[in-house]
Amino acid sequence: MPARRWPRPSELQPLLRPRRVPLKPTDRRLAGVASVADLRRLARRRAPRAVFDYTDGAAGEELSLRRSRQAFGRVEFVPTVLRDVSAVDVSTTVLGRPAAAPVVFGPTGFTRMMHTEGEPAVARVAERVGIPYALSTMGTTSIEALAAAAPRARRWFQLYLWRDRAASLDFVVRAKEAGYEALVLTVDTPVPGSRLRDVRNGLTIPPTLSLRTFAEGALHPGWWFDLVTTEPLEFASLNRFDGTVAELAARMFDPAATLADLAWIRSAWEGPLVVKGVQTVTDACAVVDAGADAVVVSNHGGRQLDRAPTPLEALPAVADAVGDRAEVYVDGGVLSGSDVVAAVAAGARAVLVGRAYLYGLMAGGERGVQKAAEILLQEVSGTLALLGVTRVSDLRRDHVRLRPD
Ligand SMILES: Cc1cc2nc3c(=O)[nH]c(=O)nc-3n(C[C@H](O)[C@H](O)[C@H](O)COP(=O)(O)O)c2cc1C
Repeated sequence: MPARRWPRPSELQPLLRPRRVPLKPTDRRLAGVASVADLRRLARRRAPRAVFDYTDGAAGEELSLRRSRQAFGRVEFVPTVLRDVSAVDVSTTVLGRPAAAPVVFGPTGFTRMMHTEGEPAVARVAERVGIPYALSTMGTTSIEALAAAAPRARRWFQLYLWRDRAASLDFVVRAKEAGYEALVLTVDTPVPGSRLRDVRNGLTIPPTLSLRTFAEGALHPGWWFDLVTTEPLEFASLNRFDGTVAELAARMFDPAATLADLAWIRSAWEGPLVVKGVQTVTDACAVVDAGADAVVVSNHGGRQLDRAPTPLEALPAVADAVGDRAEVYVDGGVLSGSDVVAAVAAGARAVLVGRAYLYGLMAGGERGVQKAAEILLQEVSGTLALLGVTRVSDLRRDHVRLRPD
């Protein structure tokens, strides 16, 4: 037993130093956040259930999404020690231009539903941090308004091939005129995925005040107050639409699209063209042959085909096959900087994230997105240092292995 004594006041003082509590409620909420998983927990509390589920959920039994997460969980890093890692640089190039990290904020539809600050908030964070952001065709901010909100951001525009080709072309022209850097053509949506959570929650666009949502509103007053006291929630690029997400998607997506349409888009857009939603080596090579400058190995975050190939597992073979003919990105289930590092080591030039920044948005608007970005970048840096690597370009396949299932 150690001998007891009375502490001196000078010894107690440092122990009693109170933590500074931020004045603004959002900052207070975010102050205790240490990971994207924390942001997700906050998001779940802040947003109505149908909104959280629309973001968090995936198609069918959600196996694609779960497997994407599990694949990252199976990653085992192989570190090298006694390397000088006093200066770690997480920057890279994406589409030949500098990016602060191998991270891109991917396109997500209906972003103002998660928080009314919406796409402009995401774009401003991307601009501040120095990473690209892709605005979705299903965005709730127009191509032009987003350009005005974040004029110096690396803005990409994500295009869905519509049944109405003239309307698709109109987007391409508008994106070019508004100074967008790249076009991202999403090709994994011939028909809408079957999002069971949305069906069960009766999610409509815009969200309607049924008896149930009204009761929900009492649990999430801040979200509803925000919704009804700001600009109405609409698809900025589409005419007003009242219906479910699935109905809208079914009306728009063109199940008859083929590689010939990709060639047509290629001829209509002179800038970099990214094709998103490729899942096999054969398709990756075909779209690169058709003129893609980059491919995203993606199953749409598990929101389209359930039981689709797991992106992290499909990535190395695609990267090998494509070689230096095009850049290869990956997405699906990335929730931490070590996921980003694992994906880059496995062959990706960059990683797209969707939910990671949307959880931040739901948790605290623009400041929540900023928090998500800071967490991801700090984790990338920390993981590189612990791996004994000082630059993203020094990551190699043998820095990671996948443990068996
Ligand atoms: C709420 C939500 C909406 C999305 N909307 C689109 C979209 O409009 N266009 C698109 O190409 N991908 C869309 N995606 C897919 C993302 O671009 C990306 O592929 C996916 O989110 C990656 O998985 P992660 O969310 O686990 O990071 C959406 C994803 C989410 C979560």
